[in-house]
Amino acid sequence: MPLVSMRQLLDEAAKGGYGVGAFNVNNMEQIQAIMDAARETQSPVIIQASRGARAYSQDKFLYHLMLAAAELYPEIPLVMHLDHGNSFETCKSAIDLGFTSVMMDGSLLEDGKTPSTFEQNVEVTRRVVEIAHAKGVTVEGEIGVLGGIEDGHGAGGSGLDHVTDPDQAVEFVEKTGVDALAIAIGTSHGAYKFTSKPDGSVLKMDVLIAIHKRLPHVHLVMHGSSSVPKHLQDVINQYGGKLKPTWGVPVEEIQLGIRNGVRKINVDTDNRLAITGAIRKVFAETPEKFDPRDYMKPAREAMKKVVAERMTQFGQAGHAGDYAPIPIAEMKQRYAAEAVAAK
Ligand code: G3H
Ligand code: 13P
Ligand code: ZN
Repeated sequence: MPLVSMRQLLDEAAKGGYGVGAFNVNNMEQIQAIMDAARETQSPVIIQASRGARAYSQDKFLYHLMLAAAELYPEIPLVMHLDHGNSFETCKSAIDLGFTSVMMDGSLLEDGKTPSTFEQNVEVTRRVVEIAHAKGVTVEGEIGVLGGIEDGHGAGGSGLDHVTDPDQAVEFVEKTGVDALAIAIGTSHGAYKFTSKPDGSVLKMDVLIAIHKRLPHVHLVMHGSSSVPKHLQDVINQYGGKLKPTWGVPVEEIQLGIRNGVRKINVDTDNRLAITGAIRKVFAETPEKFDPRDYMKPAREAMKKVVAERMTQFGQAGHAGDYAPIPIAEMKQRYAAEAVAAK
């Protein structure tokens, strides 16, 4: 199966009432872990690469690994998505390389730190939609800003500083024509999201529900959605790590989101924790080992377990065979004919 459009995947998810995990990758083992989990659970899947991932891997390597994944797992609908594109040029280079979906995160300026104005965000996102749709490529925009800065991306502060305003969300979608909309509801990237199990005072599910009521047909995206489970923290700390106690986004809150229009759920940190725990365990228990396969294999297996669990929890499991992929060239024609519903 060729790489498919994220718009098609999310439209299908909306029809089926489920969410689709979008998992970040930087290397071959992470892609293999996701594809194995997708095969085991029969899930359609979104694999995403950040700017950091593209730089780390030289993105052509990643692109060809994705083509290998599509060839080796032909039964799995697979999207290659750019995570947090910071400028028109970044998105354009991803589209030129062959990504089938891009995020233009115009909620921040190009530095990935300073919040932009609403007008700046609309302008850059609208320009990306124009060139992306002309090639059949999907666009995710963002309105509101996530908290934290742990991974070098974000405005800093608590996740509550720039929660999405539902009125602005409506205007943003109308003015840009995005296919999917990331919103800020109090989450942040990385492991340190909340200092205790989050309640409605820090995780604004009420705002998400209000946005969904105003935009019932728009595919919503939750960023910073790792659950940071204690058992993954414990493995790291048991084998010499030094994570401070922390809480992520409980899976049941994500499931509430899915019942209210969330179709894409971004997860990176949980996989980083699983990989690191598995590697630390090998190093601690068998310090005489030095063949990278001795620790990369259990790391890949640990990530696969987390991804398969999320695929089941988000509801995408069992849906890989529901539909035939629409070629990107056909998506291009549909956008041109305005046959893809304006959101
Ligand atoms: O946006 C956050 C993702 O976890 C990617 O992180 O920018 O360190 O690759 P990164
Ligand atoms: P986490 O850090 O919670 O995994 O979020 C990842 C993300 O939002 C990537 O865009
Ligand atoms: Zn994100």
